[in-house]
Amino acid sequence: MHAITVREPGGPEVLEWTEVPDPVAGPGEVVVDVVASAVNRADLLQRQGYYPPPPGASDIIGLECSGRIAALGEGVEGWQVGDEVCALLAGGGYAEKVAVPAAQLLPIPPGVDLVTAAGLPEVACTVWSNIVAAGRLSAGETFLMQGGTSGIGTHAIQVAKALGARVAATAGAPERLERCRELGADIVIDYHDDDVPARLKEATDGHGADVILDVVGAKGLAANIDALAPDGRLLIIGLQGGTKGEIDLNKLMRKRGSVTALQLRGRPVDGPSGKAAIVAGVREQVWPMIADGRVRPIVHDRVPLPDAAKAHARLEAGGVIGKILLPLR
Ligand SMILES: NC(=O)c1ccc[n+]([C@@H]2O[C@H](COP(=O)([O-])OP(=O)(O)OC[C@H]3O[C@@H](n4cnc5c(N)ncnc54)[C@H](OP(=O)(O)O)[C@@H]3O)[C@@H](O)[C@H]2O)c1
Repeated sequence: MHAITVREPGGPEVLEWTEVPDPVAGPGEVVVDVVASAVNRADLLQRQGYYPPPPGASDIIGLECSGRIAALGEGVEGWQVGDEVCALLAGGGYAEKVAVPAAQLLPIPPGVDLVTAAGLPEVACTVWSNIVAAGRLSAGETFLMQGGTSGIGTHAIQVAKALGARVAATAGAPERLERCRELGADIVIDYHDDDVPARLKEATDGHGADVILDVVGAKGLAANIDALAPDGRLLIIGLQGGTKGEIDLNKLMRKRGSVTALQLRGRPVDGPSGKAAIVAGVREQVWPMIADGRVRPIVHDRVPLPDAAKAHARLEAGGVIGKILLPLR
């Protein structure tokens, strides 16, 4: 088969469409004939050599795909050869075929075409595992999405609205704030111009955010703790602003706040924090939101998979809203 490989760590130009061995379905796995993959910011880091795959995972880039099941490994039940699926991957999505644990497969949600479904598993599993499973966001609470027009943010705004939360979102330019509003955000704040905690408190009668989903990390830590409401939960998933920060524990303690940092990719398949449990939760709670139109896939563009370098360059250049899909043909 063909896949995108990385000639050496570097810029988008190191990505090459080359011939590699076909994957084989191990016990509990299926092989999927890939119809499309999608770009995640983590893919750029892996290409640059900063984000190696977890032990045992394919070293081919790609955290999600859609396609048709081509082969079933030993012990797989509930799926048939030919089924149309999308899948959460630990790697291997930028390829014509990928092997994946059957527990990480999802059906294609009603009303979504097979190519578009490629951009759903990573955002849906990340958002659900954070704001539902870890953050326990509930109706009437205030949710702040730091980075509202990211692939993650465009999905999180809609899921939080569907859960009945009041939603605030940050972005870096007026037209991007407008897109957050169109997606359902009640409060939008420019992260360049504004004091985000002060603006959020003004808009929420001094309350702040019960749950924050953050893609910035260290640089945003102090502001996020200021923005937390009493009993607030700060969930950090991105480190675009660095990995090491200082926490004013007194401030956090007085709010009875919590800070959690979660990664999806390195989780085991099974167990209470495993990917299988997350995929099952997404299928039960998020797929119905997509089926009835409360949550829509937000697609910025489609770039053919062999041209993945162009898609990486586009995401690096900024201005992308939602996902870039990588259809095979
Ligand atoms: N831990 C996990 O399991 C996990 C899983 C998936 C994703 N992630 C992380 O989540 C983040 C989003 O992923 P993605 O693939 O959706 O990325 P993406 O589409 O490339 O989005 C990156 C976003 O970061 C925003 N941003 C940059 N600086 C910011 C700041 N100071 N304040 C607020 N927002 C800021 C950008 O906003 P503007 O464009 O408006 O500047 C942009 O929307 C990445 O950091 C990724 O690594 C983590």
